[in-house]
This record gives sequence, C-alpha cells and structure tokens, in this order.
Amino acid sequence: MTDVEVLKALDDVVDPEIGKPLAAIKMLKGATVADDGSVEVQIELPTPAYPDRERISEAVRMALKAKLPEAGKATVSFTSDVKGINSGGAIGLKARNVIAVGSGKGGVGKSTIAASIAFGLKKSGATVGLLDADVYGPSIPHLAGASGQPGMIEKEGPDGQVVQRFEPLEADGVKLMSIGFMVPAEQAVIWRGPMLHKVLQQFLQQTEWGELDYLIIDMPPGTGDVSLTLSQLLGLSGAVIVCTPQQVALLDAVKAISMFNQVKIPVLGMVENMSGDIFGSGGARKKAEEMGIPFLGDVPGESGIRQRGDDGRIASVFDDDSLSRQPLQHVCQNVAMEIAKNLLGGDAPAMPTLEIL
Ligand SMILES: Nc1ncnc2c1ncn2[C@@H]1O[C@H](COP(=O)(O)OP(=O)(O)OP(=O)(O)O)[C@@H](O)[C@H]1O
Ligand SMILES: [Mg+2]
Repeated sequence: MTDVEVLKALDDVVDPEIGKPLAAIKMLKGATVADDGSVEVQIELPTPAYPDRERISEAVRMALKAKLPEAGKATVSFTSDVKGINSGGAIGLKARNVIAVGSGKGGVGKSTIAASIAFGLKKSGATVGLLDADVYGPSIPHLAGASGQPGMIEKEGPDGQVVQRFEPLEADGVKLMSIGFMVPAEQAVIWRGPMLHKVLQQFLQQTEWGELDYLIIDMPPGTGDVSLTLSQLLGLSGAVIVCTPQQVALLDAVKAISMFNQVKIPVLGMVENMSGDIFGSGGARKKAEEMGIPFLGDVPGESGIRQRGDDGRIASVFDDDSLSRQPLQHVCQNVAMEIAKNLLGGDAPAMPTLEIL
C-alpha cells in the first residue's frame, strides 16, 4: 500500500461543511503510510475557525475502511490556511478578508458582535484586525479596554520617500484602530462625507496592519456613507447583519441588507442578538430564511456580555465561565465558513430577495 493509493481511495471524500470533494478543493494535502501500515492523512482547512474537524476524520476513516481495508490505524492531521479574496489589494492593505458588521438600527449590538467576531477568530488561530468605522460614536476602545494614541512610524515609501504610518493598538492579539484613540471620548466628531471618507481611507491604507486573515469593521448605524466608502476602496468578503428579534429591528435589518446590495457588498448572513429576552427569539432566523440569506446564529441577551463589554473585557466572552462562549463561537465559525463556502463551494454569495421592501 502506497501514499498514492491512499490518496486515490480518498479522492471522492466530500468535505461535510463545503459539500465538495476534499481533493477537488485542495484540502487533501497528502498521506503517509508508515511501516506498520498505519496511515496519516494531512488536511488543510480553509480557516482555523473550521467547526467540527472530527466529521472530516470520520469521513476519511470510513472511506479507507471501505476502499483500503488493508490500511491500519488512520489519523488525520490538520493545518489551516485562510482563504480569501485579497480584499484590500487595490489600496495595498494586506487583508485576505474584510468583513463589515452592520445593521440598519442603532444599539442592536453591532460593536459587541463585531468585537466578539474579531476576538473569536483570533482565538481560533487567525490573524485579525478590528477597525472601528463609527467615527461619530466609537465604542471599540472601550469594549476592548484599549486606550492611548496610535504610535507613528516612519517607513520608506515606494519611491524612496519617507511616509508616516499609524501603529495600531493591540488587545488580546487583535490589532485595533479607532478614531476614539485620537479624539477624547466626550468630544463629538462632526464630519461631512468627504472628511469621513478620508479618515476611513487613512485608517485602511496608512495603518501598519501587517498581513491579516480577517479585518473586521464595526459599522456605524444606518447611513450608507461608510459602506459606500468601503465598497469603493475594498473588495469586501461580505457583510454580517446584526439584528434583535423585534419586528422593527428586523425591518431595519432588511434595509441594511438592501443598502449593502446597492453598494455591491455581498451579505454573508444575519446574526440575531439579544435573543430570548423580552424581545422573544427566532425572528431573524425566519427572516433570513425568507430572504434566502444564511443565518449565522443567535446570541442570547445576557448580562455577562454587557458586563464584560462595560468593563473593557469583551474578549473574555470566550472564557470558560462565559455563558455566551458557545453561541459566539458558533457565529465566528459560521462567518468564516460562509466565506470559505463562497470561495470553494462554487456558489456565488447569496443575493437576497428583497420584494419585502
Ligand atoms: N447579547 C447581549 N446581551 C446583553 N447585552 C448586550 C448584548 N449585546 C449587546 N449588549 C449591550 O447593548 C448595548 C449596545 O450594544 P452595542 O454598543 O454593541 O450596540 P451597537 O449596535 O454597536 O450600538 P450603536 O448603534 O450605538 O453603535 C451595550 O450596552 C451592550 O453591552
Ligand atoms: Mg456600535
């Protein structure tokens, strides 16, 4: 029995999440047969936030059992390499995937969910940045417990001239940028569209983000200004829509989806936040189904989330004692897998039906 025979036996094993053969989507990297007949199969995941690796191991073992009964004990080893669309390529931002987190309505938990997605993806092993695009009401500095001004570093530009660049702040391994690091929290920032555009462009282009697997953008409520700017500068992997189960919030989510559609940012799906409290639950799942967009999970209304955010420790929602750890992990996995599916599954990103409007 040779490595090649093992690979051949695994040729049509389908990835349980993406629905395509592991070999065809280049997740099957290799196989090694040891002297004692035991087999090691190497799988490369499209994101470290891949949900249930055991399902792949299981499918691999079953295929070997059926097609190569002489194979001994089989182990599956995993690495990951985040797949992306080089979202920031046009402006020299080295981010494989830029993800906007938005809603049509204020106060539904966008910033909380955006920060949780960033820290959750980081915790799974990805390289992550978090950009606060809410220049009127920045909340990332507070949520992440980060303060101080970004440093300035001098770099040599393409023509040999010296250019100044921002050094992002960092919390729990996630790089952060926010207008909140530059103006005092109580000082309202009143800018017109062109200025807003300029600031966001600087944050994206003149920040030393390094190479990122994911850049998460916390969007301000409502307005299309920011999404228009983003769509002009970047090729986003997609937007995550946050809503609460209330009917009004759901209608606002539909408006947000229509806004992202107008500026050609694909919608990755919908998250229901503050699920299960006085607002009820399940509304977003139903709405997502109706509109043919993925449902990315529900996050309970829970005082622990509020407390951790208020205390500047939002990353701790992934600690063992956090009641919301699992639901938030689910959301992170679903977001990362929607991107992977769009890239590897061969289906175009969901274009929602909008006759409701
Ligand atoms: N799942 C949750 N359970 C309990 N409290 C939550 C939850 N999600 C968010 N909150 C709380 O709700 C408030 C609003 O959240 P957040 O600031 O994230 O909303 P937002 O949509 O970003 O608001 P804005 O439109 O002002 O930017 C915060 O006090 C936050 O702690
Ligand atoms: Mg916010």
